[in-house]
Amino acid sequence: MTRRVLVTGGAGFIGSAVVRRLVRAGWEVLNVDKLTYAGNLASLNEIDNSPNYRFLKADIGDGAAMREALDTFRPDLVMHLAAESHVDRSIDGPGDFIQTNVVGTFTLLQEALRHWRGLDAAAQKAFRFHHISTDEVYGSLGEDGLFREDTPYQPNSPYSASKAASDHLVRAWFHTYGLPVVMSNCSNNYGPYHFPEKLIPLTILNALEGKPLPVYGRGENVRDWLYVDDHAAALELIATTGRLGESYNVGGNNERRNIEVVRTICAIMDRLVPDAALGAREGLITFVTDRPGHDARYAIDAGKLKNELGWVPSETFESGIEKTVRWYLDNAAWWEPLKARYDRARLGAKG
Ligand SMILES: NC(=O)c1ccc[n+]([C@@H]2O[C@H](COP(=O)([O-])OP(=O)(O)OC[C@H]3O[C@@H](n4cnc5c(N)ncnc54)[C@H](O)[C@@H]3O)[C@@H](O)[C@H]2O)c1
Repeated sequence: MTRRVLVTGGAGFIGSAVVRRLVRAGWEVLNVDKLTYAGNLASLNEIDNSPNYRFLKADIGDGAAMREALDTFRPDLVMHLAAESHVDRSIDGPGDFIQTNVVGTFTLLQEALRHWRGLDAAAQKAFRFHHISTDEVYGSLGEDGLFREDTPYQPNSPYSASKAASDHLVRAWFHTYGLPVVMSNCSNNYGPYHFPEKLIPLTILNALEGKPLPVYGRGENVRDWLYVDDHAAALELIATTGRLGESYNVGGNNERRNIEVVRTICAIMDRLVPDAALGAREGLITFVTDRPGHDARYAIDAGKLKNELGWVPSETFESGIEKTVRWYLDNAAWWEPLKARYDRARLGAKG
């Protein structure tokens, strides 16, 4: 039986990795995306001619459009990734985050519930709604400890607060209405097709062009980095085999301080594209005013996902970051046009 999945946010960084993976695996995929500044159909060039892929430009907050998409496509799985995702932008303008992440998720849940209630018993049993979220909902860790699924929520940024709100709504639609949901919370992703406002692609592209490499504060903040295709594999597994009503933490077991990440990228670039005039790219590192409310450390305990569903990441940080740098060097045709949308200027500094 062909499986049918409606993916929201499939033109974004992680969503496009999920769509590429599922189309190749033979799923019927409908990608529903509003195409904000972060959405990019060029990220789907590898699969967009496939007969089992289609695209709908729509806002998840548009209930009528979601209703029609569900009624006509009749998915047995919804994977919900559409979101405003950049913390710095949430500091400058939280309204869009509330609208899409909270109100949009609510609208999608209502339409998914209506759709599910209209299915026959066998289709109801097969249906699932997978909500994709972030580890930032748990707040900040000290030197030790790991985020587990039962860690209390303590979101500190408008972004993480809006994602926490959406997680609570999804959970409530399971407990109150019986909508078959599964949830996941993941650490920082990196890899190909990442919009260059985020630390890793920004550093690669600035290092290539000999521009300053901005590092917030002293670069001491720790993130647990996961290669995006490892996340996509985890998401397919959770969506299809995760226990209903449960959430799963996804992480790469790759804690790095931001300054280490930037130095590693500099060393790889010095090796792959040496520039005698520029010298060692570490010299481009510039410490800038820290992000307001910057969480000190995130780290994931992904034991539940490993023990219950058998998932482990296939990339180490070293292998994944090398692949990522090489991808950006080989794919200027993807990132060049994005310069017109974003000039890699500082966002969210004022708070
Ligand atoms: N990037 C990370 O490191 C990370 C880590 C953990 C969880 N997440 C979560 O994973 C999901 C995807 O993250 P990403 O990094 O790919 O984000 P992204 O910003 O790259 O992509 C988001 C996509 O959603 C679309 N979108 C935004 N608002 C929409 C709306 N109202 N209706 C329809 N589409 C809309 C955008 O056009 C874009 O294509 C998000 O829910 C995010 O919270 C991200």
